Amino acid sequence: MRKYFLLILIITIITIGFLYVKDNTENKKGAIMPERKVLIAYYSYSGNTKYIAEKIQKMTRGDLFEIKTVKTYPKNYNEVVEEAKKEKNSDYRPELQSKIENINEYNIVFIGTPVWWYTMTPAVKSFITETDLKGKTIIPFCTHGGGGASSTFIDMAKLLPDSKVLKGIEIYERGNASTDKDINIWIDNLDI
Ligand SMILES: Cc1cc2nc3c(=O)[nH]c(=O)nc-3n(C[C@H](O)[C@H](O)[C@H](O)COP(=O)(O)O)c2cc1C
Repeated sequence: MRKYFLLILIITIITIGFLYVKDNTENKKGAIMPERKVLIAYYSYSGNTKYIAEKIQKMTRGDLFEIKTVKTYPKNYNEVVEEAKKEKNSDYRPELQSKIENINEYNIVFIGTPVWWYTMTPAVKSFITETDLKGKTIIPFCTHGGGGASSTFIDMAKLLPDSKVLKGIEIYERGNASTDKDINIWIDNLDI
């Protein structure tokens, strides 16, 4: 009888310990950034960057903002690639559907973009130039199709001379089985 009691006690302690560690890991950022408001602004054409932005939102408990253009890009891949090439070469900044009205409330802004022609999308350029990000901590992230971030983070930092731009993360499309872990480690190692 005593043996069974001891066994149940040990199982209970292990279960409580496991649940505590799990909860602590998931809530880590919510606890670290209680008074620092976090925004996750992203543009996504085919859903990959949105998928990663939502993961970051869950980990940081920040607010999500989808950057949307007034114009619609062609659904056809070759057509959008051609259009994006022209836009990159002319440094085009498309008009956005909406602005963040309460940007003053945020101290930390994650900015996510797909890589288009080795750099950020024109929509993200518009967002950065139209939003007052002076003095804020900016954390870039991007998804790509195999070429990596290329100039994305360097170009973003150039557009943000008055912000503190931290190390970005680059993810191949929607990532893989270790992406959650990679994002957690990346956030943990940021100077925030
Ligand atoms: C117009 C266009 C240009 C692209 N240029 C690149 C590139 O230079 N390097 C790269 O690795 N992937 C490139 N890709 C692939 C995308 O970066 C990749 O699929 C990304 O994950 C898409 O994100 P999204 O689903 O959020 O739009 C390009 C895709 C498009 C549509």
